[in-house]
Amino acid sequence: MRILHVALGGCLKAPPVEYGITEDTGGHIAYVLGAAMAQARDPRVRSVDIVTRAFGDPALDPVHADPVQSVAPGCTIRRLVTHDMRYLSKESLQAHLPALSRAFCDLLRGMAERPDIIHAHFADAAVLARAAQAEFGIEWTYTPHSLALQKAGAADCPQLQDRIRAERAAVAGAGAIIVSSRDEAERQLLPYGADSEGRTHRINPGVSLDRDRGPGAARDLIAPFLRDAAKPILLAIARPVRKKNLGALVDAYAASPALQDRANLVIVAGLRHGINAGPEEQAGVIRDLFDRVDRYGLWGKVALPARHDGAQIRSLYALAAEGGVFVNPALHEPFGLTLIEAAQAGVPVVATCDGGPVDILQQLEAGMLVDPTNPQDIAAACLQMLDHPRRDWLAQKARHKARAAFNWDRWAAASIQVYAGLRPIRSRQDGPVMRILASDIDGTLTGCVQSAGRFGAWHEMRPRGLMFAVATGRSAPEARRVLREWQLPEPDLFITSVGSEIWRRDGQGGLTLCGDYADHLSGDWDRDAVTATLQGTGIAWQPHYEQRRWKLSLFGDAGDATAVTRALADAGLAAHVIASHGRFIDVLPVRAGKAAALRFEAERHGLSLAQCITAGDSGNDRDMLIASGASILPANAFDELAGITGVGIFRSRDRHAAGVLDGLARLGLTVTPKPKVQHA
Ligand code: GLC
Ligand code: MG
Repeated sequence: MRILHVALGGCLKAPPVEYGITEDTGGHIAYVLGAAMAQARDPRVRSVDIVTRAFGDPALDPVHADPVQSVAPGCTIRRLVTHDMRYLSKESLQAHLPALSRAFCDLLRGMAERPDIIHAHFADAAVLARAAQAEFGIEWTYTPHSLALQKAGAADCPQLQDRIRAERAAVAGAGAIIVSSRDEAERQLLPYGADSEGRTHRINPGVSLDRDRGPGAARDLIAPFLRDAAKPILLAIARPVRKKNLGALVDAYAASPALQDRANLVIVAGLRHGINAGPEEQAGVIRDLFDRVDRYGLWGKVALPARHDGAQIRSLYALAAEGGVFVNPALHEPFGLTLIEAAQAGVPVVATCDGGPVDILQQLEAGMLVDPTNPQDIAAACLQMLDHPRRDWLAQKARHKARAAFNWDRWAAASIQVYAGLRPIRSRQDGPVMRILASDIDGTLTGCVQSAGRFGAWHEMRPRGLMFAVATGRSAPEARRVLREWQLPEPDLFITSVGSEIWRRDGQGGLTLCGDYADHLSGDWDRDAVTATLQGTGIAWQPHYEQRRWKLSLFGDAGDATAVTRALADAGLAAHVIASHGRFIDVLPVRAGKAAALRFEAERHGLSLAQCITAGDSGNDRDMLIASGASILPANAFDELAGITGVGIFRSRDRHAAGVLDGLARLGLTVTPKPKVQHA
């Protein structure tokens, strides 16, 4: 496979990159380089090109004018040369896109072997990808990195109209959209067209930290600013732009004498030449930071280094690991790569509750979320992290999790799978559907790598006329991610969000929401009123991205579920309340649920639930397990399913997918696996 990335903004070059040297030289460059280098290491990949813009500027590295630069074996930067060779900010690139598109198509025309896939970073690069698709028919994927419409009111902001239009076109045109966080996949992208979710894949990115050489370099960097340099540090690293909200961190620090007593504050905000140089926003942010430190009389406790390189950043993390904390107070953070860097370096994190950090911290099982508009909240969380009795243990745990979950080699493997899925695929399910197997995912198909693999082999050989559906509590992008991670087969049909959505394959690697089912559910569903009633119960909500159009989700046990049911009945509201896993409560339209969705699908094929086989392990599977003609419970099924009995119900002694296969065998649905063909 030949892969080509396009990323036009900022100073993209082979490492070392001077992050922060211009406003647009930020995290997306680390992403593109980390991604491309890891893909180039994958044996299935023949070459990876990164296309960016050529420019010459006396203040910037002359390499940016070179048309070709090697990054690593098999990984090359190619720069598009146009008549305008000035450095251009992301905003002013717009006017140059026609010339860049022409240069890009010229480049492709001249290639002996053109790429199989183009991966566009930001909406401006998508314009080039679209031009290449029109001329050469090359499929493309899109990573937005940041989206204008995530901000309330952005749709009405005249300055943002061009950007929003470009983002809409990118979302609509891309074969697949690859993002990093659930917030992006399940919230930020939705205003661009709810169907985008069916083409969205969440893949954890990696981080590329320099080698750890200890805290010495960091101490040298910050010592000139500090009176007592031996104290632990509160570390923030962010570009000097307003939305990073660094001023609030100074406010928080100023408001808490206890915090000042415990730690020094270190803010690394880009690279600067004095406090007046640089773009207007950057200079404004820097002046504002100096002004706050001055007004609050914090000199001697706050370090604001003017310049840094990758080695010093790594060293700052090493220093923060010694009793300190990393803080990201952004008003909104699309993802939050620095949090993972910090976690991988063993630094506890405090982060904004707006955006990507919510699910990053959930995956790290550590750290604290704060309201970025509330300095007291930020200060309290920092103090709590500094003095946490199990600080080191938590940091170690987060470090292991961060290293396992966020690495570029895993990202590369997943991205290649997504690219490969963009080729038109003919479903094996082309004849009439005679039976449907609907299986839950978590705990039922996942849980044991070997038997998940055996299930995959079974699936490949499954009898004709048998449709395979998954029925899960997860959203469509999360369901696909888990299937991918477990190397489980993509089903013919996705019943997601506890049977409140049905997604069908579009034959191009994407999924389409079933509008008929959506209409069928919407009738009796007063989402706002149900939300208000649930609010009134005081039971804790699951994170915002779990709240969907036809599913509202809380944390709580069966007792809480009963209270919810009562509250809804008292309010005269119709809803289907489902308790599962001993800790989740889902509230759906009355006509929704896994059984309801499966019945809806079965009827489309002239079948009834009696002709369906189901498999599941928890309370949210109960209705389909009871209603279907045959059902399979693996040995690991939750106790909450202990009460269900019936002739068609089979409880296997095997766990997870092995239990499902056992049940299928008893139904006569065994297959002899083909000998595995090894592909070179
Ligand atoms: C999945 C969903 C969650 C739901 C649970 C139980 O974990 O993400 O929102 O509550 O399933 O159905
Ligand atoms: Mg399950």
